Amino acid sequence: MMKNIDSISHVTGKSVYLDDIPVQKGTLYGAVFTSPVAHGKITYIDYTKAEELPGIERIFSYRDIPGRNQIGGIIEDETLFAESEVHYQGQPVLFVVAISENIARKALKLIDIRVEEYEAITDPREAKEKGLLLIPPRTFKIGNIADTWSRCEYIFEGKVDSGGQEHLYIETQGSYAYPVDNGSLRVHSSTQGATLVQKMIARVLNVPMHRIEIDVARLGGGFGGKEDQATPFACMVSLASYILQKPVKMALSRHDDMRMTGKRHPYSSDFKIGLSKDLKILAYKTTMYQNGGAASDLSPAIMERTLFHSTNAYFIPNTEVTVYSCKTNLPPNTAFRGFGAPQGMFVIESAIAKAACQLNISPRLIQEKNFLAEKDEFQYGQIAENVNIGKCYTLARESFDMVSLENEIQEFNTKNNYFKKGISIMPLCFGISFTKTPMNQARALVHIYQDGSIGVSTGAIEMGQAVNTKMIQVAAHVFSVDAEKIKIESTNTSRVANTSPTAASSGADLNGNALRIACTSLLGRLKETASKMLNCIPSEIEIIDDEVYKNKQKVGIRWEKLVETAFLDRVCLTENGHYATPVIHFDKTREKGHPFAYHVYGTAIISVTLDCIRGTYQVDDVKIVHDFGNSMNTIIDHGQVEGAVVQGIGWVTMEELAYDTSGKLLSNSLSAYKVPDIYSAPKNIEIKALETEGPELALLKSKAVGEPPFNYGIGAFFALQKAIKAFNPKYKIDFDAPLTPEKVLMRLYQK
Ligand code: MTE
Ligand code: HPA
Ligand code: MOS
Repeated sequence: MMKNIDSISHVTGKSVYLDDIPVQKGTLYGAVFTSPVAHGKITYIDYTKAEELPGIERIFSYRDIPGRNQIGGIIEDETLFAESEVHYQGQPVLFVVAISENIARKALKLIDIRVEEYEAITDPREAKEKGLLLIPPRTFKIGNIADTWSRCEYIFEGKVDSGGQEHLYIETQGSYAYPVDNGSLRVHSSTQGATLVQKMIARVLNVPMHRIEIDVARLGGGFGGKEDQATPFACMVSLASYILQKPVKMALSRHDDMRMTGKRHPYSSDFKIGLSKDLKILAYKTTMYQNGGAASDLSPAIMERTLFHSTNAYFIPNTEVTVYSCKTNLPPNTAFRGFGAPQGMFVIESAIAKAACQLNISPRLIQEKNFLAEKDEFQYGQIAENVNIGKCYTLARESFDMVSLENEIQEFNTKNNYFKKGISIMPLCFGISFTKTPMNQARALVHIYQDGSIGVSTGAIEMGQAVNTKMIQVAAHVFSVDAEKIKIESTNTSRVANTSPTAASSGADLNGNALRIACTSLLGRLKETASKMLNCIPSEIEIIDDEVYKNKQKVGIRWEKLVETAFLDRVCLTENGHYATPVIHFDKTREKGHPFAYHVYGTAIISVTLDCIRGTYQVDDVKIVHDFGNSMNTIIDHGQVEGAVVQGIGWVTMEELAYDTSGKLLSNSLSAYKVPDIYSAPKNIEIKALETEGPELALLKSKAVGEPPFNYGIGAFFALQKAIKAFNPKYKIDFDAPLTPEKVLMRLYQK
């Protein structure tokens, strides 16, 4: 199995990130002056003192923008710099440029601002009450819930809250821009969306996109946080660089990154679930309030994925789901691994947990009665095909002995007074494709150099998920040459244009298929050259392990010789591949269609031990059956599952964002915001692959893996909840994630 091509350079510190790019002589450094209040009107601002500080080059405001002061992608509702009103603490107002980062930051303290404060709203339900919505609400429905409630034997209702989540990519947001010939700019940006950054810089500067070249070597993590939110910082350095005609760089401090940038959307939801006597879910209704923050950013698309995944891996014949995207005075919330799906799945799993608790049965009995089956219709109209949830669940139950695990835990709980264990099952169904159909396209540019070495450029951005390794695997596979021959270039908008962000778990699928197409076409040309050399027809030629074969016989021509001959024969050794996912479509006017190329399935079993004196806990075991399709790289794919699971557990257990009433983030550093470390990660993670052929629409039949397993982590919430209940039967189960040790303790002793 091919190792991550970056593994050695990462551990030896040689991999180049934005801050490692050697800077040009005369490079200037930027710092952002931001709104001190969450909502208000700027009545006075004076930065003359700051401008006089030695070493300050210039201070930029919205007045200095030659183009438009507008960086909203889906909805144009976000300024680069505040003009008169401010809408969240940390909103950029000015950009200070100095000869050093220190001086730029010092100058921030000399800026005098007065803001007439308005009421700040941080709660999405309150925003909805006041009519503060980012976009109109949307509803997905199937069947007819109104007619169904009367047929239900059991009906349960409840409220569910899930918190935000800080991305905590190791590399903070940053960008470096410098002028090149003819009034153009080259911009290095730590972004998942090179083209989006290019487009917004062009908009802000009022220049055509061809003047702006974006180059990305790799990111120190993105997790969705750099799908949209790398843009403002790239725009700021570009504005300064363009106007001053000098190189300008900035990178946020961790503290600034945490307080200024958006996070996972908190949601608050109401549900109503109706079941038959034999535990079939007949009807499900939920209304969700998405905390969007002060501007739309990606909220409309995230809302959409919540709607798509609101019934997780279940078929519920009568479903009605509504999401309100609420405008609050927090930094605009944004993409985060799962992209709204985890928030939706948490609600349906809560509804099932509530029903099970009231009926005094294991939730498993409800879950397994309601799994999606072949040809079932999703609430968005797509017909389910190659459904693997049943297979994953059955394999998990059998190979991990689910029922014995449950019994062992029960026995442990009867024998122990102050430690209790809990176990839960988390099934998974996650759709692959950008929910916005036009985004499902990609291109790849391949050069075969005359010495036989190969250079590959795609639109995919490497952020630790090892997409570059997968790209090399694709080229090596199609050509059947040694991977050492292939070099993957930086992601650059002048080589590969009009890229979709590397997101929606589809970076490998989209770019890899474009690459496969380019390589296949080059291979065809090389086979033609070989057939001329060997006096045969191209279909008799094969290349296997760097050697030419004719009718399955080695002919003594190596790859290098073949390439050289083709070059001398003036064959084009460069190709551009284009891929657009077939089949998919979606009609927003009816909220029906076939938005996903395929779905990823799986089942996780999570068990925890709770210290009932202290409220502290540990996750003991995570056992997963995951549907990888035909995994093209089991090391990388297992790494993705492990990382995602731990991130998911962090979201529902320990990662708590706290704001004060003025909208100020209190958990703005790593001493106040806790993410899982090696000690709080599960003691054991076991991953078993479901053996399947894999879908045609996945790259080499290897299913996308980046986001789906995040959702397994949700199971930790319900496992903990059961452990609490085992200690305190009076605990009235509720759904308020994250379930931090403090919250656990309150519930252990609830009367
Ligand atoms: N893995 C690492 N190490 N770092 C990351 O930033 N981002 C995740 C996932 N895995 C991420 C990661 C997210 S949010 C997505 S959408 C996918 O990777 C994107 O990459 P892919 O489309 O190539 O899977
Ligand atoms: N997933 C991730 N990012 C996106 C999507 C999506 O479905 N749509 C737009 N950006
Ligand atoms: Mo991932 S949230 O789609 O970048």
